Amino acid sequence: MSDQDNLLDQAKDLAARAERVAVLSGAGISAESGLPTFRTSQSGLWEQFDPETLATPQAWEKDHQMVWAWYLWRNSLVRDVAPNEAHKALGDWEKYAHVAVTTQNVDDLHERGGSTAVQHVHGTLFNFICSRCRKQYPEQVELPTEEVLRAEPPACPHCGSPIRPDIVWFGEQLPKEPWNNGVIAAQTCDIYLVVGTSAVVQPAATLPRIAQQSGAKVIEINPKRTPESSLCDVSLRMSATEALPILLEARAATRL
Ligand code: APR
Repeated sequence: MSDQDNLLDQAKDLAARAERVAVLSGAGISAESGLPTFRTSQSGLWEQFDPETLATPQAWEKDHQMVWAWYLWRNSLVRDVAPNEAHKALGDWEKYAHVAVTTQNVDDLHERGGSTAVQHVHGTLFNFICSRCRKQYPEQVELPTEEVLRAEPPACPHCGSPIRPDIVWFGEQLPKEPWNNGVIAAQTCDIYLVVGTSAVVQPAATLPRIAQQSGAKVIEINPKRTPESSLCDVSLRMSATEALPILLEARAATRL
């Protein structure tokens, strides 16, 4: 039996016995739905741009029309894709255990895959706030019918400043409630699944440590090694759509 087969058996055994499951997911879980991960190249008009330079307050200050157009493009990408077997496995898992998802993703694929307890610690593409007074923007935002490199965001009805996505940019504070809920989930779970994240961005990358210190077993699911790989209890070199259905099946078989 290969080392990975042995590790998968360990992960199945942990999943079979877990009453409380917590998850930290990253862009990798949405990759198989067709959404580019953060650190791989983008497509189309945006191929020449690095997401890490666009998702910043500095980029917004410099050219908010370009940053706004980029988010409209990302919003339209999500509208065109569907949740994959990994998202659905986490949604189905709620029939057999308490499942708390903490995601760094700004898409809504976990919710569309059936998860009902999702904390977005980096915000979401579908909420908008004023870039100055930070009030929620209640209106629907129209998506352009074709890819554009610049677009003028709506004006805030309260102060007239441009509306921006309610997304956490590099250097900005995480939203308090999703973060606190993510910490509580890490502190109160039996197993902590780290799925599809490079585990390099803080403070999200501390959540698996909090889980481990609270007595949970940490299982990483990622085709590539990451800084998390050597620290977790089981590190599976598998894709999310391969591993999560197998772990769910191990849990479901136990209940029957
Ligand atoms: N299944 C599981 N993991 C996958 C898959 C897959 N099918 N495909 C890719 N991956 C892994 C990659 O190996 C990589 O480790 O997903 C990870 C994606 O890493 P990043 O692109 O760095 O995305 P993420 O970890 O979510 O980034 C965290 O950084 O840029 C900020 O705010 C942004 O939320 C983002 C955060």
